[in-house]
This record gives sequence, structure tokens and C-alpha cells, in this order.
Amino acid sequence: MEINLSEGLRDLMRRYPQGVAVVTTEWKGKLVGMTVNTFNSLSLNPPLVLFIADRSRGNDLPFRDSPSFAVNLVDSREVLDTFATKPVETRFQEVKYQLSDEGVPILSDAYAYLIATRGQVVDIGDHAIIVGEAKEVNLSREPSPLVYYMRNYRKVCLP
Ligand SMILES: Cc1cc2nc3c(=O)[nH]c(=O)nc-3n(C[C@H](O)[C@H](O)[C@H](O)COP(=O)(O)O)c2cc1C
Repeated sequence: MEINLSEGLRDLMRRYPQGVAVVTTEWKGKLVGMTVNTFNSLSLNPPLVLFIADRSRGNDLPFRDSPSFAVNLVDSREVLDTFATKPVETRFQEVKYQLSDEGVPILSDAYAYLIATRGQVVDIGDHAIIVGEAKEVNLSREPSPLVYYMRNYRKVCLP
């Protein structure tokens, strides 16, 4: 049987629990945001973060063009669904947010967020690694965190 490695990689990654966040920015006068499971810290000194954007869907475009972006840690399935599946133009009509000094939207539901200035963008395969340098970090409240596992958001059971 021929093994399709691209499908195999998807199957393997579905079995790997991943944190989820909503990355947001302002682009061409519009607010933009998407759910990602690829957010991670990259360096502590300097304080760098990254996420990976799907170039085949154009998900990289707003972020490679904007000087800043925010990473919102969210524990609401509804908000995560909104920023993964709802039409891009209506997403911010469904959530509460405020604008940072840089003009990037911060989701009011976020239990923590950071604001980063955009750094390197590295195109690899059909995705792009978007790097940012954290300029502000805010821990708003205690979370009830979710992870993405086997194509669903699952609650983390804390002892
Ligand atoms: C759990 C989850 C994680 C996702 N992670 C990413 C990601 O890391 N990078 C990415 O480009 N898209 C990711 N997506 C897809 C984007 O959220 C989606 O393509 C984006 O919101 C644009 O919406 P559209 O594809 O309907 O235009 C993810 C979707 C889900 C449900």
C-alpha cells in the first residue's frame, strides 16, 4: 500500500495535543484574526514568538504586511470556532475587543495576551513562519484551558 506522507503527517499531528490561540492584526484598514495551533515561544532573550501561517490560503498576507500583531490565549470554543470557520469579514462583529496603542485588536475573552512587533517571515513549503518580538504581555485571569486534539477542542483536566 502506498503511504501518502502528507496525509500521514496530518494523522500523526491529530494525535499530538496542541495549544490554541487567536492571532490578530489590522491590515488594509480591516481587523483580521485567525485561530492557530502553531503558536510557540522561540527565544526568551530577546523575547521572540512565532506562529505558522498557511500560504496556500493566504493566511500569511495580513501578518507579513503589518508591523504588529497580538496573540490572544482563549478558552472559549465559540471564539476559537469564530476565528477558524466564520467568514473573515464578520469575525470581529461576533466578539468583544479593544484596540491596543498599535491598533491591533485584543479579544476581551482572552485570559492572556501579548503584543509583538513583527520580525522575520520565513517561507518554507506551503507555509510561512511569522516571528514577532513581544513588547507587552498581559495575564488577565485564570484560564480553563483547551487543547486541540483529534480535531476537537478538549478541556484540560487540572488536578
Ligand atoms: C484548531 C485550528 C488550528 C489552526 N491553526 C492554523 C495555523 O496554525 N495556521 C494557519 O494558517 N491556519 C490555521 N488554522 C486555519 C485558520 O484558522 C483559517 O484558515 C483562517 O481562520 C482563515 O479562514 P479561511 O481559511 O476560512 O479563510 C487552524 C484552524 C483550526 C480549527
